[in-house]
Amino acid sequence: MKGIILAGGSGTRLHPLTKVVSKQLLPIYDKPMIYYPLSVLMLANIREILIISTPRDLPSFKELFADGADLGLKISYAIQEKPEGIAQAFIIGEEFIGNDDVSLILGDNIFYGAGFSKILAESIHKVEVSKKAVIFGYYVDDPERYGVVEFNQAGEVLSIIEKPKDPKSNYAIVGLYFYPNKVVQAAKKINPSDRGELEITTINELFLGEKEIDVQLLGRGFAWLDTGTHESLNEATEFIAAIEKRTSLKVGCLEEISLSKKWIRREEMLENIKGLKGIYYDYVRKL
Ligand code: G1P
Repeated sequence: MKGIILAGGSGTRLHPLTKVVSKQLLPIYDKPMIYYPLSVLMLANIREILIISTPRDLPSFKELFADGADLGLKISYAIQEKPEGIAQAFIIGEEFIGNDDVSLILGDNIFYGAGFSKILAESIHKVEVSKKAVIFGYYVDDPERYGVVEFNQAGEVLSIIEKPKDPKSNYAIVGLYFYPNKVVQAAKKINPSDRGELEITTINELFLGEKEIDVQLLGRGFAWLDTGTHESLNEATEFIAAIEKRTSLKVGCLEEISLSKKWIRREEMLENIKGLKGIYYDYVRKL
């Protein structure tokens, strides 16, 4: 399974914060936002990763991660010329995906919860074995801001609708998706929505129509954090700060994940971060 991080968009809702810098590079407490979604792919044991961003911002991501070798990863990069939708990631990434299955995570989505690695492993297994898509629902107070999933009494999925005015449930579809390879062809087939975007929700509707999608709920004890507004951005920082201080562990520390998975040896890592100062690297040195 390969992984794509979509870190595009003009971030206009966060201006002037994002006037000259990518939203996905803004700080969430002690690290850039994109560290969190990248850590999710790493926890899912995905090591071949494509980062897609705007012509303006892609060079910054390249500067941050280079080819990913320092983390035991193989990171490549591609441009999304215009914000033409999340599903376009599969068209832009066609060559990168090749014949593999693919996971997509949005560069501004933050996940935190016990047992997440197990959920990720099970999702990938399901995609690989049954060739079904796996997506996740999360209870929110403001579902109209998201893709929303509707269930019947038996818990079966009835519909998935993008930003409905009249939401049929409080379950938002989060920005983490696992698909079999045929998602690439699906993305080429769909038409842009009224807002001019190739919607990920249209893809999910296609898979739903074929009964080839599994929607899992991320329940109690699990946090899915939004970073779409100034307030939620600040809340995400406060959340991560509180968890990190209290547990004495870092959330989304890429070097830690890489070391724990033995993708890189400790001596190599120490060499890579030689001379880098501050609490983040002090933590890595202590691991
Ligand atoms: C996108 C998707 C939406 C999903 C959300 C999760 O919304 O279109 O279905 O619920 O991400 O973050 P957008 O960020 O484009 O408003």
